[in-house]
Amino acid sequence: MLSKVEELIKEVKSLQADSADVAEKLRIKYLGQKGKVKDLFADFRNVPGDKKKEFGQKLNELKNLAEDKIAELKSATEDNSHSKQQKFHDLSLPGEEVAVGSRHPISLVRQEIIEVFSRIGFTVSEGPEVEDDWHNFTALNFPEEHPARDMQDTFFVKNVFSDEELALRTHTSSVQVRVMENEKPPIRTISPGRVFRNEAISARAHCMFHQIEGLYIDEAVSFADMKQTLLYFAREYFGEKAKIRLRPSYFPFTEPSAEVDVWWGLENESDYRITKGTGWLEIMGCGMVDPNVLKNCNIDPEVYSGYAFGMGIERIAMNKYGINDLRMYFENDVRFLRQFSGATH
Ligand code: PHE
Repeated sequence: MLSKVEELIKEVKSLQADSADVAEKLRIKYLGQKGKVKDLFADFRNVPGDKKKEFGQKLNELKNLAEDKIAELKSATEDNSHSKQQKFHDLSLPGEEVAVGSRHPISLVRQEIIEVFSRIGFTVSEGPEVEDDWHNFTALNFPEEHPARDMQDTFFVKNVFSDEELALRTHTSSVQVRVMENEKPPIRTISPGRVFRNEAISARAHCMFHQIEGLYIDEAVSFADMKQTLLYFAREYFGEKAKIRLRPSYFPFTEPSAEVDVWWGLENESDYRITKGTGWLEIMGCGMVDPNVLKNCNIDPEVYSGYAFGMGIERIAMNKYGINDLRMYFENDVRFLRQFSGATH
């Protein structure tokens, strides 16, 4: 019995390991629940009484020795693997690439449009997406029961704290009302933001999209001022040679109102498709702010006049990037989103 312990002591003394893995295997082999040292402890019962003391001491010696040895092997092999790593640690190697994602095309176009207008003094204003009737409709000269309200299929929301009926804003003109109520002219601001309309979702329509609306109010602002600003925008955004044309239109909050087209060209099949065969691309609505709207916002229409315009960001991004299905903007398919990773801003 005793010689068995002594043999094991010799064995343990000569143990070697060249990796942390091997050291762990040795630990299990000798010190584990079913290990060689544990086995000997089980044999302790069978040792005759007078030998118990000596055997016990030897056994403890073995156990301590095995523990020390394996701890030593472990720390040696761990150090070893660490220093191996160090050997290959070449500081001149390129670092691992960090995936930073990409900007969404809507954000890119939104930012570009903001930059164009901020160069001529427009500030950016934002407002709530859940609006009251006053800011989305009434102040903007949509009388109650007026059929113009139907032009914008609205999502209504119940305010659980009062009986007031709220709506998801159908345009960011609501933000302009808020600005006019709170600031004195001259006012020069654009309001980018998300808007909602109850439309069936298809390649050409969505229940959620983004707008940028602009507002300029001062003394003696004219229709010609508006036209010149919009021409400036078209040239900055679509290129030096851009041309625009204005067609009469109707909005309750502007009078007169117009639809703005920009010349896209009519050279190939896709130009035909994009411009429906006209060469012109409809990009926004605009008009002189109706005196009733100014009055509603406590601005004297006898002193001040102004213009407003509004455009859809998705539509502009579609033309810019050749995107032909509105639904792709909100599906978050990385194969779509990654295509814009090269873009700056
Ligand atoms: N609010 C209009 C829309 O949502 C756009 C617009 C803004 C038209 C300002 C004229 C003036 O369609």
